Amino acid sequence: MKLIIIDYFLVICNDILKPKRIEQNRSSKYSIMKLPKLVIKGFHLGGCIIQGGMGVGVSLAPLAGAVSKEGGLGVVSSAGLRTIVSLREGRNMNTYTAVRMELERAKDSSGGRPVAINIMCALIGTYNDTVRASIDAEVGAIISGAGLPLGLPGIMQPRNTALVPIISSARALEIIIKRWERLSYRPDAVVLEGPLAGGHLGFKMKEVDDSDFTLEKLLPPVLGVAHQHGDFPVIVAGGIYAHEDICKFLAMGASGVQMGTRFLATHESSATAEYKQAVVDAREDDIIVVAYPDKTPASPCGLPFRILKGSPSYSKKRQPRCDRGYVLQRGPEGKPSVCQAMPGSANSDKFFCLCNTLLASAGWAPTELPLYTVGSNAYRVDKILSVAELMKELCGEYARISSE
Ligand SMILES: Cc1cc2nc3c(=O)[nH]c(=O)nc-3n(C[C@H](O)[C@H](O)[C@H](O)COP(=O)(O)O)c2cc1C
Repeated sequence: MKLIIIDYFLVICNDILKPKRIEQNRSSKYSIMKLPKLVIKGFHLGGCIIQGGMGVGVSLAPLAGAVSKEGGLGVVSSAGLRTIVSLREGRNMNTYTAVRMELERAKDSSGGRPVAINIMCALIGTYNDTVRASIDAEVGAIISGAGLPLGLPGIMQPRNTALVPIISSARALEIIIKRWERLSYRPDAVVLEGPLAGGHLGFKMKEVDDSDFTLEKLLPPVLGVAHQHGDFPVIVAGGIYAHEDICKFLAMGASGVQMGTRFLATHESSATAEYKQAVVDAREDDIIVVAYPDKTPASPCGLPFRILKGSPSYSKKRQPRCDRGYVLQRGPEGKPSVCQAMPGSANSDKFFCLCNTLLASAGWAPTELPLYTVGSNAYRVDKILSVAELMKELCGEYARISSE
C-alpha cells in the first residue's frame, strides 16, 4: 500500500516538477523512481525510454513493436530495409513500399502505441523516399542522424509525425535550427548522442576518449540551445545502461534516453544468435573504435565506428561482395555513385564493406562474414533478456520489488 502511494505521488510530480523532484531523490531513491512519460509535439510517445534505431536489420518490427508495447518508444531502422523486406517477401520492392510494410508490421505488434523510424542521412540514395513513406504511415517520430538532417522538413511537412535530429554537440543543433527556420520548422525534440554509443559516432577519433566530450558535459549546452528555441525535449544516448543512469540524466534535465546495446541483446532484436552471443561473451578490451585514417580498416561512412574486434569480417579480413551501395557518396556528376570501400576506389583497402557485413549480422547475407557494432557498455551484458524483462529492469521494477 505504502508503495502504491509513493508511486502515485511520483507520477503526479513527474509531470509538474520532474527535474527538481528527481534531484531531491537522487541520493537515496533512484531505485524506486517512476520514470516520466515522453511528450513530443503534444503527444505521449510512450515512456521516456527510446530504443535506438539499429541497422542493418537489427531493429525491425518485432523489436520496435515490443518496445512500444512495453511502454517505451520502439524504433525501426530504415537501413537496408528495402533489401530485407524484398528478401523476406520473396519479391522485389521499392524503398517506399518496403518502409510502409515494415512500419505497419511494427504498429500491428505495438498494441496501438506509436512507433518511430530511424533514418540515417548517410543513406542518400533512399533518404527522401523513406521520409515520405514514414510520414504517410503516420509514424510517431522520424529520428535522423549519421550526418546533419538539414533538409528533413523540406522533403514533406508532417502533420503528426515528430522530426527529431540526432546531434553530438550544441553547435550542430544550432546549425540545424537555423537551417530548419528557413523551412518554417523547429525540431520537435533532439537526441544528443555521446561518444560511448554503438554504431557510428559523430566525433573526431581524438574526441571519443576525451573527458571534455562526455555526455554529462555535452548535455548542459544542448539544453541551453533547446531552451532558447521553445524548450523542446532533449533525449540523451550513448553508454546508458541501467535504471540509475536514466535517473542521473533525467536529473540533469534530459527528458528521455535512447538506448541501443541493451535492446540489441534481447530476444526480439533481429540480430543473429551468434551476434547476440558475441555481445554476451564480450570483454571490455574486445570493444574498439575504428576510424579513417587513425585506425583502419574503417567505415566508409567516414565516421568513427564502434565494433567488436573479434567480428568475423574484421578478424578474418575476407573481401566481401560489393553489390548493395547503401552508403554511397556523390560522384563528380552529383549522383550517389561512390563508396569508399568499393574495389577500385582510392584507399579502398582502408575501408571495410558495411552493407553486406551488416546484412550478414542480421542473417540476410549468409555467404558473407558479419561485422558486429556495439556500444561501449556491451561487455556488461551477461544474458539475453526479453524486451518485457529489460523494460522492467530499466524502469526500476525489480529494485522496487526487492526494496518492498
Ligand atoms: C547494433 C547497432 C546498430 C546501430 N545502428 C544505428 C543506425 O542505423 N542509425 C543510428 O542513427 N544509430 C544507430 N545506432 C546507435 C543507436 O541507435 C543508439 O543511439 C546507441 O546505440 C546508444 O548507445 P548505447 O548502445 O550505448 O545504448 C546503432 C547502435 C547499435 C548498437
